[in-house]
Amino acid sequence: MICNDIHSALTPLLARYDENQIIVLMDDKLSFDSSYPTLRLKIDETHKSIETVSSIWNFLIERNITRRGVLVCIGGGVLTDIGGFAAATYKRGIDYINIPTTLLAMIDASSGGKTGVNFKGLKNAIGCFAQPKETIIWPGWLKSLPSAEFLSGFGEMLKTGLLDEHLWLNLLQYDLASMEIEPLTSLIEQCIAVKERIVTADPKEDGLRKVLNLGHTFGHALEEVSWMLHGYAVLYGLIAELYVSVVKLGCPKEPLQQLTQIMLQYYDRPKCNCKDRRQLIALMQQDKKNERAAEINCTLIQNIGSPVINQVITPDEANEALEYLFSL
Ligand SMILES: NC(=O)c1ccc[n+]([C@@H]2O[C@H](COP(=O)([O-])OP(=O)(O)OC[C@H]3O[C@@H](n4cnc5c(N)ncnc54)[C@H](O)[C@@H]3O)[C@@H](O)[C@H]2O)c1
Ligand SMILES: [Zn+2]
Repeated sequence: MICNDIHSALTPLLARYDENQIIVLMDDKLSFDSSYPTLRLKIDETHKSIETVSSIWNFLIERNITRRGVLVCIGGGVLTDIGGFAAATYKRGIDYINIPTTLLAMIDASSGGKTGVNFKGLKNAIGCFAQPKETIIWPGWLKSLPSAEFLSGFGEMLKTGLLDEHLWLNLLQYDLASMEIEPLTSLIEQCIAVKERIVTADPKEDGLRKVLNLGHTFGHALEEVSWMLHGYAVLYGLIAELYVSVVKLGCPKEPLQQLTQIMLQYYDRPKCNCKDRRQLIALMQQDKKNERAAEINCTLIQNIGSPVINQVITPDEANEALEYLFSL
């Protein structure tokens, strides 16, 4: 739910629980007055670990939280992924509520029920599906968000937009230079609605949900070769995958041109370059989403709002798409 005030959204939800069974988990960069016991966590990908989850379990045990307890998770996607996993595994699962505070977490990480931590250098290697009782979105958090994090979240919004024509047209109207929150609110709502529609049809990622991986086959490889915020990698990945969509599936060129324009106007160019192509292709061939070894498997689009999953592309096709991306 989208709200204007967190306390008034949260209070009726928490009324279902005993006063002493409510725990708050919060990113230590945020300031929020909570009258409940609060565990503040230092947040970055290196803390997205089983050790952090263990510290949450400890906090819950020390405060005698029973199976009727609830964990309120306030933070970005790292915190909501860890908090959801800690809640889902504590005493075989207690309730949790997400209050996402980054744009990426609002439109992606805090809904859909995927939770987890990194393990032995593998991203999100340990985790489970567990739906939050509620996700409360207060766009006011975005005022303090660094602009690079804002752009990263918007990259993932553009991906969602390519899955729904109406949303795509609305996203193109948004003035990204302003980063104004008021006109963004309805776009956040629309992105969540598109994701929810897809996730409801395929809660455990058996098929259809793979459309949400658009941009991510190239994106994940780019992220591995050089450090960048996730939504930037997704945007570069979208450009490469739309290029392949044009060549292979006859997708109209317009969305590719629009995305390219957005990238050139608001984002840095990718830090990788043509020298990295061989390594990028090798990484895509090893992607854990592949059904057969050494294949490059992507979600592509035939047009805006018409994605197709499980498209196997050749190394030559991938190479040409990377050439286009790095020529920009
Ligand atoms: N579960 C899912 O379906 C799903 C989907 C997408 C991404 N994810 C996960 O989400 C994570 C990325 O999430 P993220 O981009 O939100 O990163 P993040 O949680 O690391 O937050 C980004 C940075 O912003 C800070 N921050 C958070 N809220 C702030 C605010 N309001 N003002 C100022 N600073 C703030 C954080 O401390 C951090 O430094 C990844 O671990 C990814 O795997 C999960
Ligand atoms: Zn993503």
